[in-house]
This record gives sequence, C-alpha cells and structure tokens, in this order.
Amino acid sequence: MAPTSASPGFPPSVAIVTGAASGIGAAVARRLAASGTRVCLADVSADALDAVARDIGPTATACVTDVTDEDSCRSAVRATRKAFGHPADILVNAAGVSLNRATTEMTLAEWNRVFAVNVTGPFLLTRHALPGMIERGRGSIVNVASLAAHRSLPETAAYSASKAALIAFTRQMAADYGRHGIRANSVSPGATATPMLLSEARAAAEAAGIELETFLEKASAELPLRRIGRGEDVAEVCAFLAGDASTSVTGVDILVDSGTAGLDAFALAMTRLASP
Ligand SMILES: NC(=O)c1ccc[n+]([C@@H]2O[C@H](COP(=O)([O-])OP(=O)(O)OC[C@H]3O[C@@H](n4cnc5c(N)ncnc54)[C@H](O)[C@@H]3O)[C@@H](O)[C@H]2O)c1
Repeated sequence: MAPTSASPGFPPSVAIVTGAASGIGAAVARRLAASGTRVCLADVSADALDAVARDIGPTATACVTDVTDEDSCRSAVRATRKAFGHPADILVNAAGVSLNRATTEMTLAEWNRVFAVNVTGPFLLTRHALPGMIERGRGSIVNVASLAAHRSLPETAAYSASKAALIAFTRQMAADYGRHGIRANSVSPGATATPMLLSEARAAAEAAGIELETFLEKASAELPLRRIGRGEDVAEVCAFLAGDASTSVTGVDILVDSGTAGLDAFALAMTRLASP
C-alpha cells in the first residue's frame, strides 16, 4: 500500500498552489494549510501573495511565479523543496484568466494569452513537479477548470476551449503517472464569488442599470441551490481531491456549480418569460 501523509515517519504533505494571491487559489492555500499541509503560494501578484502568506503564517511560503514562464515554474518547484525539505506531493493549478470576446473580434495574441495561462501554465508546473512526486512515490494534481468546459457561455471561446483542454490534460496525467502513485483530477466551478467573477458581474450589472448586489441576487435565484459558490466551497473539493480521502479517485472532473449544469436553458427561458 502506498504511504499516506498519516503514515508513521512519512513526511507531511507539501503543496504548490498557483493563483494563490486571490479568490479560489487563496482559499485552497488556506484550506490546505489549515489541515497541516505546508504550502508554497505561487502567483504573479507579489503584494497580494505576501499578504496571503503572512496571514497563513510559517507553514506558508510565497514564491512570485509567472506560470507562463518555464524558468519561473522551475524556480517555484525548487523553492518549495528548499523551503520545506521535501518536494511537493500536491500541486493545485488555480491561476487562470478569463476573456469575454466575440471570436471575430479576438486577436491571436488574446487567444494565445488565455491558453498560455490556463493550459501551458498547468503543463509547465506539472512537468517540473512530477519528478519530485515520482521520487516521493505519491502525488496529487488538482487542476481548476470551469463549468465553461462543459456548457457554452456567450462569447468565451478561448476560455471554454482552454478549460476543456485542461480537463483532457488532467485525464492524460492520471493515465500516464498513476503507476507512480500519482493522481490527477480537476474541478469545474460554476459562478464563484471571486474578484474574477465580480468584475464581470459588475460590468453586467452596470449594463443592466442595477446594483451589483441586486444583480447577483437575481442571477442566483435561478440556480437550483439559489446561491453562487464561494472560493471556500471549491477549496473544500480541491482539498478532498488533494488528500488521502480520495485515494482511488483519479482522472475525473468534479462540477462545483450549485447545480447550474443540470439546468436546461430553454426551460429556464420559458420559466422566466412566463413570470416576468
Ligand atoms: N470565479 C469563477 O466564477 C470561476 C468559475 C470557473 C472557473 N474559475 C477558475 O478558477 C481559477 C481561479 O480564478 P478566481 O475566480 O479565483 O480568479 P482571481 O482573478 O481571483 O484569481 C486568479 C489568480 O491567478 C493569478 N494569475 C493570473 N495570471 C497568472 C500568471 N501568468 N501566473 C501566475 N498567476 C497568475 C492572478 O494574479 C490571480 O491571483 C481560474 O483558473 C478560473 O478560470 C473561476
């Protein structure tokens, strides 16, 4: 049986979490640290990253990282080993960017940027973290995809395609590295109250001429759970996938979407039109 983080004499888990300066990544870092994992926080946003690391305390270290840059990813993996004395056995790729743009208006540079952060970033971190995981004989990779990989949103072609690619990459890692005791899974959040979503919601609320709070209330009222997610909700599922509780779960994607994917768009439109 593969050793678990609770096995006697086995070193505690060490995690790298990208996108850890904000939103879902910060919530994942806090959640993992709260359960005794030592965490390297990786993000391009240096000041916000330091604030989260300070808040977590000595079990966290901050490492300014641009996930689109291979040297930067390699340094983050090395810095993690140096800080904690062991290579990372958990990698959570939460850094991401979104883009709302009609395909006819989208430049090649914009398309490439979305893929660089959302797909190439997880590839680079995985590539450099895998040797340490193989060395430890265990590892768990958790990639933060999106509901957009499963359901089309208006004018988000690059984002949706990048997240679908990330899910396929994740499944491939599960198939290729399972024999080393390494698992790979993804989560697909629906609308989650983070700076990324709130800036989009603010623009939509302005266009609709209503307050952000009213907009969010009305939009949430259409979901089965009548609420959008919180970073902590997604973090809880990431922590489950990262840890030994999910020891035989690999190659899957878990929707964390308050039930959004179960809704039928036409039925929803009929309900709305019937009760304006
Ligand atoms: N918020 C949502 O509704 C939602 C829904 C589905 C999926 N997601 C996904 O969740 C993940 C986290 O998003 P969030 O909502 O917390 O957004 P956020 O904007 O709050 O956080 C994203 C973080 O990624 C970092 N980042 C961006 N580019 C980077 C780069 N090149 N290198 C390193 N870090 C970089 C940012 O600095 C930021 O701290 C993303 O992958 C996003 O696509 C979010």
